[in-house]
Amino acid sequence: MNKLGVLTLLSIVVGGPAVGQTRDSHAGLPHLEKRGGATQLIVDGKPFLVLGGELHNSSSSSVAYMKPVWPRLTAMHMNTVLSPVAWETIEPEEGKFDFSVVDGLLEGARANNLKLVILWFGAWKNTYSSYVPAWVKTDTERFPRVQTSDGRSTERLSPFSTAVRDADARAFARLMRHLREVDGDTHTVLMVQVENEVGVIPESRDHSAVANAAFSGAVPSALMSFLQKHRTTLDPEFRAAWEAAGGKTAGTWQEVFGKTSLTDDLFMAWHYATYIEHVTAAGKAEYPLPMFANAALIRPNYEPGQYNSGGPLPHSMDVWHAGAPSLDLLSPDIYFNEFALWAGRYARPDNPLFIPEAQGGAAGAANALYAFGHLSAMGFSPFGVDDQGNAPLDLVGITNSSERPDNSAIGNVYSELSKLAPMILEKQGTGGVTAALMEGEAQRSARLYLGDYTATMTRAGGSSGAGARLAAMFIQTGPNEFLVAGSGDAQITFSTDKPGLPIVGIESIDEEFFENGAWVPGRRLNGDENSQGQALRLYASDLAQGKIYRVRLYRYR
Ligand code: DGJ
Repeated sequence: MNKLGVLTLLSIVVGGPAVGQTRDSHAGLPHLEKRGGATQLIVDGKPFLVLGGELHNSSSSSVAYMKPVWPRLTAMHMNTVLSPVAWETIEPEEGKFDFSVVDGLLEGARANNLKLVILWFGAWKNTYSSYVPAWVKTDTERFPRVQTSDGRSTERLSPFSTAVRDADARAFARLMRHLREVDGDTHTVLMVQVENEVGVIPESRDHSAVANAAFSGAVPSALMSFLQKHRTTLDPEFRAAWEAAGGKTAGTWQEVFGKTSLTDDLFMAWHYATYIEHVTAAGKAEYPLPMFANAALIRPNYEPGQYNSGGPLPHSMDVWHAGAPSLDLLSPDIYFNEFALWAGRYARPDNPLFIPEAQGGAAGAANALYAFGHLSAMGFSPFGVDDQGNAPLDLVGITNSSERPDNSAIGNVYSELSKLAPMILEKQGTGGVTAALMEGEAQRSARLYLGDYTATMTRAGGSSGAGARLAAMFIQTGPNEFLVAGSGDAQITFSTDKPGLPIVGIESIDEEFFENGAWVPGRRLNGDENSQGQALRLYASDLAQGKIYRVRLYRYR
């Protein structure tokens, strides 16, 4: 996307930079930059890896509640906290803004050396409109709701209402102006999520009169031309659905995309996207930080309306890109076991990967290694990192209190990643870093390719149950040399499919630990410790011990 073009357009749409602000004052802001094949977040001139954690929904409403939380997050080696800011908190009375909680969050984060990603809980949070101020919630005439097909209102504001959109955009723009005023030089806030997990439930689309009229009208030409222009890079599932319906380039929604509930989903996606475009553009006109929207993913066999219909899902990402060009990226909230599949669908050349919500624990540690190493993610963030046993168990994705995710696994992987970050950032998108992930007991092996070598990872020791998900990250430090960080019990053997000498041998393996800013060797591992020179053994305890391996390979005939 041409950012300058977007800025120019914004100036026209919303009246240009606020008084006293020039475009130059945006120089040095956190922004995204393409480096090699990766898009990275640049903070104060340098690439930044977001080692994040998202707070429970209600934590950031109280500065006092957060006070003892911050140091615990720092102790987990996080560098960034994803924190909600609710519309009801900042605009309790229409036009009267109160930023004391926002300022308290900034102060708490700064005092603990943490960055923030702000989550704008505006018109929608998990499809509902529970975070809007009372003056919005109670005035259903002025702020209409999504309606069901039998004419009932739901507790969801309608994305077809310009009154809702404009009030939301005004509040968001005011928040962004405040952030520019109090943080424009300090850059504690790195990015902003606009709304949270939008979409409609329990039906696949809004049935209000305005929505019905839009649904029986033509698919907007702006969307049709975007799809034609990007035909070859469209999400394959989306493209197949469009082509199965005849691949038409004009007509009503059902004529172009078919008479299915997926069409309702695409229709809602366009309207959420264009609504969010308006809000995002208004916010960026005040303070153009990178902005994104997040998606609740689809459980197996769920239909639109059972899942959030219209959210920024893989099959509707192109519709979102067309409708919301001011958003810098679309993000998945990944709580499901098929992490590689979901994360992979969001890591596209036109959509860098940032994961604002994910499961934590040992599974999260493995997923983080894979996301940063294999998918060039710019950030990863387990949900509920401030959990003190006071969150409903179904919200932490578990049913048995003895299984609460152990935050120490995230602390350990973040500790390791913070030391490796400069190398990871230098090599993301160049082929110099990659990772392999094993997702469950059924998966017996995983393979990765780096330079001249192929690494094959198999399970070892106790890699069952909670340890069944594991990953290894490889960073290439020379033609035949790699640093390896692993998150579980595994054995790795090496081979090659490249021309030249056909057999790969292990020249040496050293364990290394980070001391005084450098990796220093521990034991030289040989004999029983490397299967008589035939394999690298990773242990589930490696991360806790702060251990990585330096592996040197050679080839022979
Ligand atoms: C997804 C939402 O986006 C979060 O705000 C939170 O409600 C989690 N679900 C709870 O698991």
